[in-house]
Amino acid sequence: MAVLRNQATAGEQGYANVEFLVADGCTIDFLDASFDGITWRYALHHSAQVEAALAEVGRVLRPAAVLVVADAVRHPEDDRDFINRCQALEPDGHVRIYTANGLVDLFWASDFEAQQQFVSTITFTRSLKAAYRDLIDGTPPEILDLYGVTITGDRAVLDSDVLNVKFAAPAD
Ligand SMILES: C[S@@+](CC[C@H](N)C(=O)[O-])C[C@H]1O[C@@H](n2cnc3c(N)ncnc32)[C@H](O)[C@@H]1O
Repeated sequence: MAVLRNQATAGEQGYANVEFLVADGCTIDFLDASFDGITWRYALHHSAQVEAALAEVGRVLRPAAVLVVADAVRHPEDDRDFINRCQALEPDGHVRIYTANGLVDLFWASDFEAQQQFVSTITFTRSLKAAYRDLIDGTPPEILDLYGVTITGDRAVLDSDVLNVKFAAPAD
């Protein structure tokens, strides 16, 4: 359904050379070294098998090709793992948000070279169901401040840093 909708939108906007496919990130149905570049945005933290997905991305990229990864990151002073406990309350397949260092280390371990990076912000707005209220009430204010957590009426709003990194895939 999303594929058809996206394909129609691309056509309406005059993009004739865009194709949409749905695949599991651990089994991408393309030959080795098929791609000059991949963006992996806001999806890594949904992956239950990050290493397998990373190996698959490495497989389909050409040597030294570009991989851009963008994902929310856990604040380094968040020693309560608040961001993961918070996101786990959403039924959207959240698995794990890494720290910025942890995220880069994952790719370094697979010989991807970080070439450029910058930090942006993503805002999460949540309906303040009881589980959120309990989590927020049980979290020290200094941890909540790391994410600028605010409660307005029946909504909780928090800001997370997003790490955007341009990697080079391993050279052959
Ligand atoms: C928050 S959305 C981000 C969508 C898009 N990449 C973007 O930047 O707007 C998370 C995406 O991760 C995808 N996803 C989660 N687990 C996946 C998996 N195992 N393999 C492939 N995609 C997955 C979901 O289908 C969803 O499209």
